[in-house]
Amino acid sequence: MQGLKLIEIGENETIKEQIRRGQREQQPFESDDFRAANRIYLDLTYIFDAPGKGAITREDVDKLIPEIMKAHQMLKNSEGDICDGDIPMTGWQNLPLEISGENLDEIKTVAKEIANEIDVFVSLGIGGSYLGIESTFRALTHQYFNQLSREQRGGAPEVYFLGNNMDPDYFRDTLDMLEGKRIGINVISKSGTTTETAIAFRIIRKLMEDNWGDKSDRMILATTDRVKGALKKMADRKGYRTFIIPDNIGGRFSVLTDVGLVGLAMANIDIEEFVAGFKNMHRIAHNDDFWQNPSLVHAALRHVSWLKGKKIEVVATNAASLFFVARWMEQLFPESEGHNGHGLWVSPSFYSEKLHANGQAVQQGERNILETFLLLLEHDNRIPIPNMDEDSDGLGFLSDRGLDMGFVNRKVIDGPAYAHYQGGVPNMTVEIPKRNAYNLGQFYYMMERSVAIAGYLFGHNPFIQPGVEAYKQAMFALIGKPGFEENATNIEKNLNKVKRIRI
Ligand code: PA5
Repeated sequence: MQGLKLIEIGENETIKEQIRRGQREQQPFESDDFRAANRIYLDLTYIFDAPGKGAITREDVDKLIPEIMKAHQMLKNSEGDICDGDIPMTGWQNLPLEISGENLDEIKTVAKEIANEIDVFVSLGIGGSYLGIESTFRALTHQYFNQLSREQRGGAPEVYFLGNNMDPDYFRDTLDMLEGKRIGINVISKSGTTTETAIAFRIIRKLMEDNWGDKSDRMILATTDRVKGALKKMADRKGYRTFIIPDNIGGRFSVLTDVGLVGLAMANIDIEEFVAGFKNMHRIAHNDDFWQNPSLVHAALRHVSWLKGKKIEVVATNAASLFFVARWMEQLFPESEGHNGHGLWVSPSFYSEKLHANGQAVQQGERNILETFLLLLEHDNRIPIPNMDEDSDGLGFLSDRGLDMGFVNRKVIDGPAYAHYQGGVPNMTVEIPKRNAYNLGQFYYMMERSVAIAGYLFGHNPFIQPGVEAYKQAMFALIGKPGFEENATNIEKNLNKVKRIRI
């Protein structure tokens, strides 16, 4: 049997776009036409007055507007409970306007230089030092990026992520993908002490040094605090090239800093376009007219939902490419909102896969759900539904009418939006026009502002994560890290009080 030929299936537009990227002229980001074609809409058709108990009403939102507008002004002025230690953590707020061309050029130059000398790039980090990079990378590249040829990847090396878990099998499997290849890494950690990242770095660094000695230092980039921390110290000692996580920007708000930009440039993603998207949403999200400001409306609807007893936000998308964006939201919102008994639990879902699983509970389970759809309006590719001699599945009408897979995929959101609403689940849709760096930038900024407003509404600081710190401390103590002996003793004492049950 001969290998499969893709008869009557066109070329893959995602691959074509990967190749075009970096080769075409810069697009007119500030033109009205470009903005209109890339406008993110928030569709609220199914948000108000869903049947059953706990419906959200327009009046609920109207009542909240004065409080929201106060929060909006406070955020603009960087006022309120926003500090980590004595540093106000709103540096991300005007970053889209402040980021310099020189900074972007430097990143692109280093990325190009390193990319030319390696086959594989590995990004090491966890939480905010990881999720935004992978979510942007996945949103904008081929699902099987690493299996494509270098040319099909637009000249970029393969891209892997490590340091985001402690699973030795996962790590070992990834090493198989690196074997025999020239590698470059970016180790990202603001604190420089996060266990997962540090252990992954130690293993990879040892391998690199054992293979290439001091020459490997050139292939190691460190993205960390400007002056302090263990990683900064080591980078200085070894002479690694360093990139900076600003003091006043927390991990989950850092995708537009060197944290995100270095990895994205390495994957040949247009970082200027990414910045332009952030800039445009900065303009839109500073609007003082509540109903013209999607960040404020989004924040208001989520807050009202929570007040009305919604505890889970299903963030569902019809695009595999946007599933990781939903995962980015899974961090941004709960890590910022989940303090003092507050906040919605974010559940990322890829439809229609999940509709055949917990979709049942969304339709008919406990009515404590808000649903947010990330609807990709235009996929890269069009796959026609073929005409067949027999019509045993009864779907011949689709091909008769010239409809394609994308048409059906759109209904994967339209159908649940309608049905879930009828079942008592209020929902809203964020319409993302197409897969490009501009739209990702717009989306991230819209959500960052929304979650910052949520902090004011809940009355807590959304820019710190004491709960995460608690686990980090417990983990240090449990692995016996020197300096955490007291924590270890306390844990042991507490464990002694717990009755161990194993069945
Ligand atoms: O948003 C955050 O601040 C966290 O998710 C951090 O990014 C995460 O804990 C990783 O921390 P670090 O960059 O210090 O290794």
